[in-house]
Amino acid sequence: MQKLIIKGSRELSGKISISGSKNATLPILAASILSNQAIIKNVPLVKDIFTMVELLNFIGLKTKIIKKKNIIEIKNNEKNINTLAPYKLVKTMRAGVLVLGSLLSKYRKAKVSLPGGCAIGTRPVDLHLFALKKLGAKIKIKDGYIFAQAKNGLKGTKIKFPSISVGATENALLAAFKAKGRTILKNCAIEPEIKDLIKFLKKLGADISLKGRTISISENIAKRPKIIHHVIFDRIELGTYMIASTLLAKKNLTICKIDPKIIKNELNVLKKIGAQIKQKKDSITIKKAKKFKNINIITKPYPGFPTDLQAQLMVLLTQANGISRIKEDIFENRFMHVPELKRMGAQIEIKDKTAIIKGPTKLTGAEVMATDLRASVSLVLAGLIGENRTIINRIYHLDRGYENLESKLKKCRAKIKRI
Ligand code: UD1
Repeated sequence: MQKLIIKGSRELSGKISISGSKNATLPILAASILSNQAIIKNVPLVKDIFTMVELLNFIGLKTKIIKKKNIIEIKNNEKNINTLAPYKLVKTMRAGVLVLGSLLSKYRKAKVSLPGGCAIGTRPVDLHLFALKKLGAKIKIKDGYIFAQAKNGLKGTKIKFPSISVGATENALLAAFKAKGRTILKNCAIEPEIKDLIKFLKKLGADISLKGRTISISENIAKRPKIIHHVIFDRIELGTYMIASTLLAKKNLTICKIDPKIIKNELNVLKKIGAQIKQKKDSITIKKAKKFKNINIITKPYPGFPTDLQAQLMVLLTQANGISRIKEDIFENRFMHVPELKRMGAQIEIKDKTAIIKGPTKLTGAEVMATDLRASVSLVLAGLIGENRTIINRIYHLDRGYENLESKLKKCRAKIKRI
């Protein structure tokens, strides 16, 4: 099994280009079932994307990955379509459940494996199914599978989500795309990745508008034979490197191919902690904080502080003066990185949903184990600031979501290698 070895306490400087967003690409790939031909650019070549492409191939679409250009071409010639998403492809990547909306909308039936448990919590799909039922689908759960059917097609309606879910909003949009009439979705997630999916669906011919947390989508008004879409940048990858720079960039570290307007909240949080940040239209330059200030944060749906940056922020707060608190308000079990960080010297206590971090503490290298995607990258950050050598096991989690992590960091002078 592969491991990462990091030699810590090295200054970072240089330039990092941010990849396309994994969490935007996944629903767009699911949406490509609704198109005849789609060319998707700026795709991050990470494990979850390959799994989704495998799922599209299984369903009967023709896909081509042009690795050198980060492009995926997809054709749906409507031959031998299989409206099934099997367990083996959904179990490792929860976003597989997003093909449910597209298949049901276009082919009026689907059998999709339940995604099952996950390290960061139970992560049910009840909100996805709630929306599909409102659109007229008949749904049964049997043998670990969701059986969905809409013999006469789905019908547009008004749906108010009882709580905010990224995946359920995406699945509802995909299902509503070909539903008869207009669908109004209320209390939606409005993450930038959802806005990117809306852009893609607009190119497909949908009439969509977004106001506050309400999305209105109506029947397909025109068929576009070929769609070209450039995926938005990965704001979580960006946030991760911004945190690394705040910790270690004594000179400047510039992060490019981004739009700072989308991450206003994250920038404010880092500025409060002490990061020295200069913004341009499509890049930011960060210098290490002169003093690290403690803060209190609660993770929230966008535009709030993202749960996907919680673990990385915690590493930063181990260096802040005084007590910081992070309340995890999205997932019930997302502090798996805490015992590993404690093994490196961090002083963190968990009370219910809140992690209480006492700083500043010197972190020292240790052998640690990655538990999920974002927890893994927090251990990389801890390794980068820690004294001596850190060995990170189970790094397959990292490969699910960070494109060229080692080479990007190496270019900025980090000592990191995979064995
Ligand atoms: C997406 C992101 C993930 C991110 C999360 C929250 C992708 C591929 N993944 O995951 O990286 O951490 O948003 O920003 O985009 N819930 C229910 N019932 C449901 C669905 C969700 O109770 O049917 C709960 C979840 O357990 C969680 C909360 O709602 O507590 C938010 O989850 P959700 O927004 O759906 O996350 P995902 O779409 O799975």
